[in-house]
Amino acid sequence: MCSYIENVEMNKKPISLYIHFPWCEVKCPYCDFNSYVLKHKKIDVDDYIDRLLLELDERKKYYPQKDIQSVFFGGGTPSLMSASQISKVLERVTELFNPIDSFEVTIEMNPESVTDKLVKKLKSTLVNRISMGVQSFNDEHLKVLGRIHNSDKALKSLDIICESFDNVNIDVMYGLPNQSTKAAMKDLETALQFPVKHFSWYQLTLEPQTAFYKNIPKGIPKEDLIIDIETVGRQLIKNYAFNHYEISAYAKNKKECLHNLNYWQFGDYMGIGAGAHSKYSKGNAQFRSWNHKKPETYMDHDFRGWEPIENHELSFEYFLNRMRLKSPISKKEFEQATNLDHSQIVTKMSLLKQKGLMNDVAAGWEMTKLGHNFYNDVVCSFIKEDKK
Ligand SMILES: C[S@@+](CC[C@H](N)C(=O)[O-])C[C@H]1O[C@@H](n2cnc3c(N)ncnc32)[C@H](O)[C@@H]1O
Ligand code: SF4
Repeated sequence: MCSYIENVEMNKKPISLYIHFPWCEVKCPYCDFNSYVLKHKKIDVDDYIDRLLLELDERKKYYPQKDIQSVFFGGGTPSLMSASQISKVLERVTELFNPIDSFEVTIEMNPESVTDKLVKKLKSTLVNRISMGVQSFNDEHLKVLGRIHNSDKALKSLDIICESFDNVNIDVMYGLPNQSTKAAMKDLETALQFPVKHFSWYQLTLEPQTAFYKNIPKGIPKEDLIIDIETVGRQLIKNYAFNHYEISAYAKNKKECLHNLNYWQFGDYMGIGAGAHSKYSKGNAQFRSWNHKKPETYMDHDFRGWEPIENHELSFEYFLNRMRLKSPISKKEFEQATNLDHSQIVTKMSLLKQKGLMNDVAAGWEMTKLGHNFYNDVVCSFIKEDKK
């Protein structure tokens, strides 16, 4: 039998809002995000935005929160929207919610869609954080990745962005076909010359349903080379005064991504647009919903309803997110986020501690270095933890 603690905190915390823009100029062969090629688009972007606003109003009914802490325009390539389209969405957001002092509004931008004019216009909106998908500064690698920008365009775009915005993230990938440690470090060094406060460094993964998965490119680095790239690269990033706070994320000057922190801490969030996910808490229960993935289906159908997150899923889902973060996990935090009593995971934690994957700390637990290397195994051990 599950025991519960009173949930007084969860739905009092400010909400985070994700807004999905599902189109890109091209579909990159490694990408499994919910994105579609722009030229095949059958929907007018203004109609899509009207639909987003309708969904925002509809879903708002489930969130008693007045305050909002973050908005994230993700994709796809949301920088294909105009500044006035983005403003229109943000205007409705601020009619419905009160932005907190540290309100963070991020937009993902692809180098090819960056212009001086667009960046200046974005600066006059509530957008205050830019996430740039550079992936690499090496033209050969960019070509293999199917990207339509080159290194020169990436550098120029970053110059333009850093001139106007203080809070900038750069996405770079490693483990690229035929990439040496030296080439991976060159990408890192080039990115870190910019005055950015956040850096995301992802290992290229071969995701099912992608062109790379069906036709694996030659020269994908073997595990020992990946370990070498990671070891040398993490030290290099550290030398630039970045704090490694999540599996792939690094921040300096306390500019951790507020929006993503909320997911990783298993907070409530609303997601609108094709394929977006939402989660909210009510009393001791939590509910989730996910939208139709195809933009046409999203436009033509009722918004998807909510389903309760079952108790046996809660601890797994919590740790799946929370263990991405490097910081220790307190028992109180676990209980507030899941409404479960921590005694329910004591046996599982003991087993992980015996295997050297977790450690006890004063207020709770922390993952060991070994645990971080076996993140998937640690997290999966919580599946069906408290299934009755
Ligand atoms: C939502 S995606 C795309 C953002 C933007 N459209 C772009 O491509 O620049 C966010 C980031 O996920 C990373 N990513 C996407 N697919 C990946 C994969 N298969 N393996 C590793 N990282 C990936 C890329 O670094 C990308 O910038
Ligand atoms: S990686 Fe970015 S640009 Fe490429 S298809 Fe995915 S979302 Fe679009």
